[in-house]
This record gives sequence, C-alpha cells and structure tokens, in this order.
Amino acid sequence: MQDHQSGHQRLTLSDVQRPEYLANPYPLYHRLREHDPIYWDEEMHAWVLTRYTDVVAVLRDPRFSSAWGPVETAWMPEELRPQLEPALRAVSRQMLFLDPPDHSRLRGLVARAFTPRMVESLRPRVQRLVDELLDAVQDQGEMEFVADFAYPLPAIVIAEMLGVPPEDRSQFIVWTQDFGRLLDGGHLSFEELLTTLSGIADFLAYFRRQIAQRRTAPRDDLLQALILAEEQGDRLNEEELLGNCVLLLAAGHGTTTHLLGNGLYALLQHPEQLQLLRENPSLAPTAVMELLRYDSPVQLTSRRLTADVEWAGRRFKAGEEVLTVLGAANHDPEQFPDPDRLDLRRTDNRHVAFGHGPHFCLGAPLARLEAEVAFTTILRRLPQLCLATEQIERLPSLVFRGIKALPVTFASVL
Ligand code: HEM
Repeated sequence: MQDHQSGHQRLTLSDVQRPEYLANPYPLYHRLREHDPIYWDEEMHAWVLTRYTDVVAVLRDPRFSSAWGPVETAWMPEELRPQLEPALRAVSRQMLFLDPPDHSRLRGLVARAFTPRMVESLRPRVQRLVDELLDAVQDQGEMEFVADFAYPLPAIVIAEMLGVPPEDRSQFIVWTQDFGRLLDGGHLSFEELLTTLSGIADFLAYFRRQIAQRRTAPRDDLLQALILAEEQGDRLNEEELLGNCVLLLAAGHGTTTHLLGNGLYALLQHPEQLQLLRENPSLAPTAVMELLRYDSPVQLTSRRLTADVEWAGRRFKAGEEVLTVLGAANHDPEQFPDPDRLDLRRTDNRHVAFGHGPHFCLGAPLARLEAEVAFTTILRRLPQLCLATEQIERLPSLVFRGIKALPVTFASVL
C-alpha cells in the first residue's frame, strides 16, 4: 500500500511474513503503532490494534466477542459429514471460542480440575522430566533444543496430566499439529480443512474411548477430574469434555515449546542476562515473565464485534474482526520503558503474552512452572552453552512466534 504523505510503501501486518520482520517483527509493530495504532487492514479484512491500552481495553470489553457463532456444516461433503460435524461441534464448545455466560460456566468447571495448586504439585515431576531430557544429551555436547527438549517436555507433561498412556504420545504430535493449524488463523484450502478436521475427529474418538474407560474404572488424573468436575449440580457434557480436553492438549503444547525456544534463544543472544540468571536462579519467575514479554509465543488474538461500536474515535461495525497484536502491545514504550531491551529484573511487567480479561490463559501457571524449572536446570547443568548457528529459521505464522530448530553446543560432562 502506498502512503500518500511520505510517498513510502506503507507497511501492514502481513509484512510480518517478510524474512526481515519474521526474524524481528518489533520494528514493524513500532511503525504500525506510530503511523496508526488502530487501522483497517484491507488484506486481513480486519482492524489491527498495536497499542497496549487499546489491546487491554478490547480484551475486557464484552462487545468484542470470542464466539464462533452457529456451526456451519453446509459446506461439508455429504459422505464426510457424520465424521466431521461432531469434530466441528466439539471444537466450537471450547471455552476459547465462547462468550459469557457459556464461557464462564465451562471455564469454571475446567478450572475446578486444573487448579494452580494441582499444577504446583507437579514441580518434582517436571524437574525429573527436565533432568531426564538433559541426561539423554549431556554427554554429546550438543543438541537440537526444539526437538530434543522444547517439544517433548510440554507434550509429556500435559499427556501425563490427562492420563494418556506413553505409547500413544507420538500420535499426539500429529493431532496437536492438526489443531494448531486451525488456530493459526491462516486461510486453509478446502482439502487442508478436511484433513485438519478429520485429524481432530480421530483425536476425539480416541478421547471418547479414554472417557468411557474412566467411567467404569476411575483413575487419578486430570481427565477423571474433568469428568467429575461439578458446580452446583452442573457437569461438563461429553461434547464439552472432549472439546476442552483437545484445547488443553493443543493450547498448552506448541505455545510452551515456543516459550522455551524463544526464551533460550533470547538468553543466548544476551550473555550478560544469561549469566545473571545462572548466578541468581531465584530470579527465574521474574525472568520467565520478561522472556514471555520480550518474544511472545502468541503474537495476536482476535475478536468480532457483536454490535456497531464507537470506540477510540473509530466506528466499528457489527461483524467486523479486530486483531489485537499482543506482541506489539508487549513492546509499547508507553507501557514498558525501553521495550526492546531484555531485562530479566524488569518489575511491574504487566505483559499480555497470556492474553487479558475473561479468556486469560488458564494454563499460565503450568507454562511458567515448566519454563522456570527448564531454564534454571539448563543453566546449572550445561556449561558453555552457545548457539551452534546464527541462522535460525522462524515459523511462518502471524499468530504463533516460534523457532523451527535451535542447535546448541555445551561442554560435555564425561
Ligand atoms: C488461553 C497464551 C500455555 C491453556 C490463552 C490465551 C493466550 C494464551 C494469549 C488467550 C487467547 C484469547 O484471549 O483469545 C499461552 C501461552 C502459553 C500458554 C503464551 C505458553 C507459554 C498454556 C497451557 C495451557 C493453556 C500450558 C494448558 C495446559 C489455555 C486455555 C485457554 C488459553 C484453556 C482458554 C482460556 C479461556 O478461553 O478462558 N493462552 N498459553 N495455555 N490457554 Fe494458554
């Protein structure tokens, strides 16, 4: 798009996919925020918001909805409908895609099973898993951090929590990728949509069997707790149970992988900050919050207008989509002094990496726990940790920010 005042090519959010901005989108976000912090993006067909105060205001304003609306099935090929329709229905019952009062009800029920106390009780198990993953590579003096550590750790933790047997875990890789594609916001081709939904249908069939087993032979795991979760005589029905199990698995997996990958990469690029954390492991909770702000795994989320709204000097029409760019809000200099600086001691760090308002990430305590244990243990156990290459490849996504592969070297302990 041509900017008539400056004569320069005007940048838009889609430019994040250009190699220089995929490597570092924050200068682009600054340009968007300075030029017009609330603009209508023709290509995305949505409003784009890059200022912290606007992002926070939209995410807590009920007129900006998360709901999917009624499930449309007319486009489905007749022969696939019996398989795909239940998948789409279960996905549409995930709390992420609902507004109050449905959202509050479902979130309340899931939160009864998935409590911060229960998450904290996992700390010794997370520590053991972290140590086992490092034991496997320690003598080699090198690893590909994403495949060897950042991917398996959250996958094993959430699969174990839900009570998924270890032998079924590799199948989860495929299923969580299917669901990630649906959340990614990109436009899927018809064939891709069919493949994605049929993967989710298999995922649901698997969980249906797991739930049936627990109804006759109860176990001590999160899936059982979700089946039993009750509030004033209300429980999750099977569709809600299935949809939200898939959400817990998928929402918590890729995002935490990206936090570990982006976080370690940021530390390795700032050796003095890495050293600070190595010497002060008690800084881990503050450090993880700063790593979440500095290079957020979820860069944007969206809402849809339920009514015509006059807001911040703009007229939004019912049905229009609004993209709240969390990554840009987290680098807004009005909210964070010197926002592009990694400062592991940063205080008053009210970042929006986990969202804001009623949909604030339910898994935040788990993600933070995993990252705290991971970073402190890695820095304690792996001396002379370095990047093996300066050339890292980013995931080509506007929504998720992650690293495909992160080869590192360290002194091997023989
Ligand atoms: C919601 C980010 C880890 C489960 C969200 C939202 C964000 C987010 C931004 C809000 C989306 C919106 O408002 O539209 C992250 C990041 C993570 C992470 C950056 C890791 C670093 C996890 C984990 C779990 C989880 C480990 C669970 C195992 C959820 C759920 C919601 C959610 C269930 C929906 C909450 C609701 O709709 O009320 N997450 N998440 N997340 N997250 Fe996370």
